[in-house]
Amino acid sequence: MEKREIQRLIDAAIGQLAYAYTPYSHFKVGAALLTAEGKIYAGCNIENAAYGPSNCAERTAFFKAVSEGERRFRAICVVGGPKGVLSELTPPCGVCRQVMMEFCDPGTFQIILASGRDDYQVFTLAELMPMGFGPGNLAADGAFGD
Ligand code: THU
Repeated sequence: MEKREIQRLIDAAIGQLAYAYTPYSHFKVGAALLTAEGKIYAGCNIENAAYGPSNCAERTAFFKAVSEGERRFRAICVVGGPKGVLSELTPPCGVCRQVMMEFCDPGTFQIILASGRDDYQVFTLAELMPMGFGPGNLAADGAFGD
């Protein structure tokens, strides 16, 4: 991806930090998901007093997009830090990586971890989720198709 395109995603992810609802961890995360057509769906983490129902920024972005009819994705950018201060990279949790496996090609989907506009690293989903389980594992059985 071009740097200009990456920075557009970083800006959108940083923009979400203002909306992160984090009264328990105070760790704010923003994500920006890029569709195949170039549209961005952004998301933040949303915590809950019962802890378990909390949702990560990445899944917020994916669920917003899929619920609007999107199914084809190119990349996601993630930023985060304590009180929204971006000092280190914030890698996606295992549950979010599994959600990415559902909708993305592990070999080509790009995960951009950023701590600033000029500070980022790019990984493929396969690099962060080696030998992941996905829809293809069920397809051979004929169980996949919705
Ligand atoms: N979190 C995310 O939203 N995305 C990540 O990639 C890592 C963790 C959230 C979950 C929780 O609200 C807070 O960060 C602390 O774990």
